[in-house]
Amino acid sequence: MNNGPIGIFDSGVGGLTVWKEVHNLLPQESYIYLADSKNAPYGDKSTPEIISLSKKNVDFLISKGCKLIVVACNTATTNAIKLLRQTYEIPFIGIEPAIKPAALKTSTGSVGVLATKGTLASSLFQKTSKDYGKEIHILEKEGKGLVPLIEAGLIDRKETEELLNSYIQPMLKANIDSLVLGCTHYPLLIPLLRKILPENVEIIDCGRAVAKQTKAVLKNKNLLSKNSKEHFLEFYTNSDKEALEYFLKNYGIQNSVFTSVF
Ligand code: DGL
Repeated sequence: MNNGPIGIFDSGVGGLTVWKEVHNLLPQESYIYLADSKNAPYGDKSTPEIISLSKKNVDFLISKGCKLIVVACNTATTNAIKLLRQTYEIPFIGIEPAIKPAALKTSTGSVGVLATKGTLASSLFQKTSKDYGKEIHILEKEGKGLVPLIEAGLIDRKETEELLNSYIQPMLKANIDSLVLGCTHYPLLIPLLRKILPENVEIIDCGRAVAKQTKAVLKNKNLLSKNSKEHFLEFYTNSDKEALEYFLKNYGIQNSVFTSVF
């Protein structure tokens, strides 16, 4: 089991931003990445739909021999991880908007959260937002339409910048000093965000924290890979391979994307 792959899933290419951090920290591990591109975006779906898609993804990753699963999607984590943990024995690592570090750090008392509708509406997010929003102002905004633009690779288009800008400006008016990226697709927009945001606004993304947590859980369960030589990378999609290949090229990875039915 130790040399089994780590499974990672997302609705599409967004989870690559998490995979990259996990892989940087644990380069000796094998990885199977699943992009459920056919069903993206998850953000507009109901909780039962998100749960059923998440289970399908988990079944695929388990059938491939994964030893741990990273739910590299805020929407799936906030809507489904509790049920996944109750249903399966395999360990899960999730990702959810990092309100806590933003709330602890803020000096203006205002933080912005950009996330999908499904994440913002989830009871897990609502609870966290309520817990940390007692003393500070949390500005929540749905990044409507951003995920399809990213999936289409249109990250440096004027229309993407304008849409993003329309979501950020009201937050800047409210004097935020940090912006929490509550969707794993959004770190792919950091170059655009840096153009829009003043220097004093910190972008908070918790991909690295997820990587650290993955390492800690594998270590604790004695599941860290013992074979540093033979590791592999496989990326699966149930739609066309272009989007994954486009983003993976930036990470120097080629010929590792496969189309599959799941
Ligand atoms: N990348 C995902 C997230 O973190 C899903 C976005 C979507 O499919 O709407 O929420």
